[in-house]
Amino acid sequence: MRLPAKVAVITGAGSGIGRASALLFAREGACVTVADVDRVGGEATADEIRQGGGRATFVPTDVTHPPDVRALIAEAVRFGGAGRLDIAFNNAGISCVGAVDETGEDEWDRVIAVNVRGVYLGCRFAVEQMKAQGGGGCILNMSSSIAQTGLARRAAYAASKGAVLALTRSMQVDCAPHGIRVNAILPGTIFTPFVEGYLRRSFPGREEEALEAIRRRQLSGELGRPEDVAAAALYLASDEAGFVLGSGLVVDGGLTAGKA
Ligand SMILES: NC(=O)c1ccc[n+]([C@@H]2O[C@H](COP(=O)([O-])OP(=O)(O)OC[C@H]3O[C@@H](n4cnc5c(N)ncnc54)[C@H](O)[C@@H]3O)[C@@H](O)[C@H]2O)c1
Repeated sequence: MRLPAKVAVITGAGSGIGRASALLFAREGACVTVADVDRVGGEATADEIRQGGGRATFVPTDVTHPPDVRALIAEAVRFGGAGRLDIAFNNAGISCVGAVDETGEDEWDRVIAVNVRGVYLGCRFAVEQMKAQGGGGCILNMSSSIAQTGLARRAAYAASKGAVLALTRSMQVDCAPHGIRVNAILPGTIFTPFVEGYLRRSFPGREEEALEAIRRRQLSGELGRPEDVAAAALYLASDEAGFVLGSGLVVDGGLTAGKA
């Protein structure tokens, strides 16, 4: 077990990377509070964990709504039964396609609200709790390889993920004296409902062709799987990563390393 008796909360855990992380964290011994705005997906993740013999509960949460996020952290602590929170994984996020002149204000605001305000709120209430319990703990924030390398027609999304990376590094400076580690994860293209939706919206009728172009831009020649990112999150959340502070861990099949 790599997370024995750790108390964890994961947002956006009703689907994709968040769900894979919740399942893996629970298998490694963590008590997992699953948060998502999607009740069906969130309940399904928690059910799957319980059926596998793990400990999980689902808390319906909109990460943009402060009372929801405050209540989520309190519920994770209560459910964990140890008076503490060890791991907060701020994973929930939404995509947005468009160059800057194609992005309307409402779309911009929505992406920044979920991807940046949502992460800020998760961090804020997790840090409050971790300080109140006498320090210690680990925060993971979901950024993206797009924070480091431009991609066509992702203006708002790229801005949101760059903000998450900068927030993570800055937070780490403030959190280090309290024994709290804060790290970001920068995935490349991972095959989840998020990417399927992007392909459908951006390349109607040409999804397979677009998928092939994505495969070609990754040195791995393949898209990542949610489990690839969950494994990186597990490492960062575990005590093995005790000396890893304020990092942005790239999990991108070589996308940002170079071109073939
Ligand atoms: N899939 C990729 O290629 C990729 C690459 C880099 C980064 N990411 C990031 O990883 C994270 C997870 O992505 P995924 O691919 O698993 O997506 P996904 O769409 O499969 O899952 C995202 C989950 O977040 C939830 N969510 C959305 N808005 C929410 C809100 N306001 N409050 C609570 N939950 C909300 C959704 O209901 C969904 O269950 C996102 O932050 C995404 O930006 C994904």
